[in-house]
Amino acid sequence: MRRSVMLSCGSYLPEKVLTNEEMAKIVDTSAEWIEQRTGIKKRHVAAPGQKTSDLATAAAMKALKAANLQGSDIDLIVLATTSPDNTFPATAVTVQDNIGMGGKGFAFDIQAVCSGFIYALATADNFIKAGQAKRALVIGAEHFTNLLDWTDRTTCVLFGDGAGAVILEASDDGKGTKEDRGILSTHLHSEGALRNLLYVDGGPSSTRTVGHVKMNGKEVFRHAVTRMSEAIVEAMQANKVTAEDVRWLVPHQANKRIIDATAEKLHLTPEKVVVTVQDHGNTSAASIPLALSTAVEDGRIQRGDLILMEAMGGGLTWGAALARW
Ligand code: UT7
Repeated sequence: MRRSVMLSCGSYLPEKVLTNEEMAKIVDTSAEWIEQRTGIKKRHVAAPGQKTSDLATAAAMKALKAANLQGSDIDLIVLATTSPDNTFPATAVTVQDNIGMGGKGFAFDIQAVCSGFIYALATADNFIKAGQAKRALVIGAEHFTNLLDWTDRTTCVLFGDGAGAVILEASDDGKGTKEDRGILSTHLHSEGALRNLLYVDGGPSSTRTVGHVKMNGKEVFRHAVTRMSEAIVEAMQANKVTAEDVRWLVPHQANKRIIDATAEKLHLTPEKVVVTVQDHGNTSAASIPLALSTAVEDGRIQRGDLILMEAMGGGLTWGAALARW
């Protein structure tokens, strides 16, 4: 059975770090409030002129190096972002050029906000399973801080910039069981009636401006725990695995309280959960591949480990993916 095997991952964070203490000088907040309510201690902020494609390219190059591959070895790029370089073309085509893929294969963007990486992973996995791609770069990259209203303390303290990438490769070695390496299943959902809970108040066809993030935090929080728990159960049931079988939960990093509540609801003990929100803030589509890269690089995630990824974001969109690393 054909599977998309995860060959490697890589990540990039901009140099500039903005601590909670520095944030308290920008807006009416306190370092304690941010840490207690969200778990965030600091976030990275892209330099002026540093584009989403730059962050994405840096992460992609690290993933390529880790797999001992070159850009020309890739035939598909699926890039999840909510902060593209331009309205068009897709940021993915700039990355295609930057990594030296030439005119080989194809590259496109996906917009599912904080669920973007799960959507991109599912899309690339399906292209590989359908035989339309052999080796895919799946990227989550955000210059999200450019979407923030820096006078709105209810949103600007939460987000950061960064990028993460994963390389998938078609393999026919799978036996069609949960012991196979690679993506075992993906599960995507959305509910458009809830789009006004988290959105940007601008765009080409409405205001002709970029706009700023608006969020009903309490409602989003409530939905996040419920929806992500449902997606996790769906992924576990589809593969007949239990919480004990899962080695690592690599969740979207929006709020430590959301991560803790979701893990507790599903009896996933804290030692199994990869948490990076304290260092990165919420990097939207980049958060899962950033967390994954952190845990692979520090040696926590080992070959053969069963990993469960989940996210929820604006739309509302949500989903989960179960994979054997
Ligand atoms: O990636 C997916 C999308 N995002 C999320 O998943 C985020 C989901 N939501 C959350 O994480 C939380 O709802 C927040 C962190 C955004 C807010 O936490 P909360 O515990 O729900 O706080 P709250 O909105 O109920 O606000 C409590 C109080 C309010 O004051 P009053 O009305 O009680 O006097 C707020 O005005 O905290 C105040 N507040 C702040 N105080 C200091 C709100 N933001 C801040 C702030 N600093 N930055």
